[in-house]
Amino acid sequence: MTTATAPSTASKGLEGVVAAETKMSFIDGTKGILEYVGIPIAALAENSSFEETVFLLWNGRLPNRSELDGFVFQIREQYALPKELINIITSFPKTAEPMHVLRTGVSALSLWDPKPDAISADDVHSKGISMMAKMPGIITTFDRYRKGKPIVAPDSSLSFAANLMYMLNGEKPTKTMEKALDACLILHTDHGLNASTFTARVIASTLSDVYSAISGAIGALRGPLHGGANEGVMHMLHEIGSLDNVDDFIHHKLETKDKIMGFGHRVYKTRDPRAMFLKNFSKKLAEQTGNSNLYEMSRRIEDIMEEAVAARGIYPNVDFYSATTYHCIGLELDLFTPMFAISRIGGWLGHVIEQQTGNRLIRPKADYIGPHEQPYIPINER
Ligand SMILES: CC(C)(COP(=O)(O)OP(=O)(O)OC[C@H]1O[C@@H](n2cnc3c(N)ncnc32)[C@H](O)[C@@H]1OP(=O)(O)O)[C@@H](O)C(=O)NCCC(=O)NCCS
Repeated sequence: MTTATAPSTASKGLEGVVAAETKMSFIDGTKGILEYVGIPIAALAENSSFEETVFLLWNGRLPNRSELDGFVFQIREQYALPKELINIITSFPKTAEPMHVLRTGVSALSLWDPKPDAISADDVHSKGISMMAKMPGIITTFDRYRKGKPIVAPDSSLSFAANLMYMLNGEKPTKTMEKALDACLILHTDHGLNASTFTARVIASTLSDVYSAISGAIGALRGPLHGGANEGVMHMLHEIGSLDNVDDFIHHKLETKDKIMGFGHRVYKTRDPRAMFLKNFSKKLAEQTGNSNLYEMSRRIEDIMEEAVAARGIYPNVDFYSATTYHCIGLELDLFTPMFAISRIGGWLGHVIEQQTGNRLIRPKADYIGPHEQPYIPINER
């Protein structure tokens, strides 16, 4: 009998493993660069719109005026949910967690699609547009239902970001709020082979349908180490309460080796360029909305972390300042991660399209580290 096993060659967390090619995001984690199709992320967040950025990712180039108008039109005409889906959503328990609702709603959309399994590039494009257009409706319908408020029908004269806020609040947002959400959507829409995108690609590689790929990605995104971190940041800010408490709180966490939400990244070992953009953005928004205390607390946390752990490559990530930004635009805590999911549909769909071009089943292997040549012991002798 032997129990000897070869030493494992597995890369824990697949760190450093190149598992796909993409033409969408370029990330340099040591220099702090993020580009979509070669365009720096800050230039897009400043000047583009979410719809235009998604076109860029899916087509590998910026649209001309008529292409953009056409793309925007296609999205807007699909904002409305099937009536039956609204009925289903408004029968969910009001205590349901919105990410579970979003995952269920996206999965359910396949049931109204006459060709849910079609996966040609054109099919994925058109299903992607429909899914993207309807994700805000799934979340806003549920949010208003759980609060006992009347459901708001979409307004196809509004941009993606403005319509989302309109369906959520029943009022058209100001230009500042629309721009704030739009910038967040752009900044979060793609980011290389992150966990949820990898999930979508794995599912797509089996030639399964797009709805399954996106539902699986939503499931991966909601974990606290991935998209759920922005909620964790806000919980932390609430728990700290005031600027005076920041130092003790953070030092205590560091001493007890607790992770500080919104810091650290598998890829960035320097400042995350998305966090840099949102830092400036959230400062202005916080001043305009009477939330400067949140910004000041965040700044102080960043200073302490800079001194304590920046030398180890741990800096604020996108979630750190997006938490304050989302709070300032009036989003409730448990809608932060759904906003991230709604943004990430651009990247997920783009990766599904890339995966299906020259697809090969994603099927890595595991090093077996258990014993060998064990006897089978009959149950009454165990
Ligand atoms: C994002 C994250 C999962 C990346 O982690 P990773 O590459 O797997 O790195 P690890 O979790 O293995 O951490 C490596 C070391 O850095 C420390 N570290 C990483 N993130 C930290 C954080 N946010 N606060 C304090 N210490 C942190 C770990 O404790 C670990 O220390 P050790 O070597 O002494 O054990 C991790 O940084 C994290 O959990 N961050 C908080 C959650 C978050 O903000 N997620 C959003 C990502 S966009």
